[in-house]
Amino acid sequence: MRYDVFSIFPDFFVSPLNQTILKRAIQNNIISVNIHDIRDYAEGKHRTTDDYPYGGGSGMVMKVQPIVDAVKDVKSKIGVTTESIKIILTTPQGRTFNQKIAGELAGFKNIMIICGRYEGIDERVKDIICPDEISIGDYVLSGGELPALVIIDAVSRYVPGVLGSESSVEADTFSDGLLKYPQYTRPEEFRGLKVPSVLLSGKHGEIEKWRRSESIRVTLAKRPDLLENAELTEEDKEIIKGSGN
Ligand SMILES: C[S@@+](CC[C@H](N)C(=O)[O-])C[C@H]1O[C@@H](n2cnc3c(N)ncnc32)[C@H](O)[C@@H]1O
Repeated sequence: MRYDVFSIFPDFFVSPLNQTILKRAIQNNIISVNIHDIRDYAEGKHRTTDDYPYGGGSGMVMKVQPIVDAVKDVKSKIGVTTESIKIILTTPQGRTFNQKIAGELAGFKNIMIICGRYEGIDERVKDIICPDEISIGDYVLSGGELPALVIIDAVSRYVPGVLGSESSVEADTFSDGLLKYPQYTRPEEFRGLKVPSVLLSGKHGEIEKWRRSESIRVTLAKRPDLLENAELTEEDKEIIKGSGN
């Protein structure tokens, strides 16, 4: 899996990509993350990547030319086909990123991510590149660098070999439409609080049953909206009925 990220602040990515899971995945050549400075593609003596908005108003707008040229250049250098590539524009106006989208994006060999800054980018970038517009939530950040890192992290967890155990991503919260069951580690007792005895029983069938019912209980308590789209067995439905919902 190859990521190409376009930003005017390439240093933003140095530390996050140099830690734990992503660092290991890059070192093991399972993923590669190539950061491109949009400024390198800016024309003119001052290499400006932004300008005043037509029609007036506050702030600056990122220019169309450096972004379009940067994407075109990298695309031709890596020689990707339209089917194998996904071009993402980070924007608070996009569809909201979630675990399902992360799983879908993991099916692409190449992902390009454009990071906006200031008041956003010239609308014509969208007309020319037709990117998948993605938001990481209903709030406004100062730039697309954090959203790009969020997307890279969540998508990479689906790439085989990135996580120590491939089953981990399947057991994550949201993967089966439910929140994850509570987890415990040593000691067995801390300040009078004991680990549920079933987890110490060694009975795998019972542990699985407990985890499923706890998943449902936690989802009901914290995110009941998720249950509407979750795949539930008859046994799951009984648990929900038994809880009075
Ligand atoms: C300050 S924001 C621009 C917001 C724009 N003025 C608006 O109201 O829609 C600058 C850049 O940050 C990124 N950004 C901000 N919030 C985001 C979010 N929730 N999800 C994804 N990207 C975001 C986008 O790349 C955006 O172009």
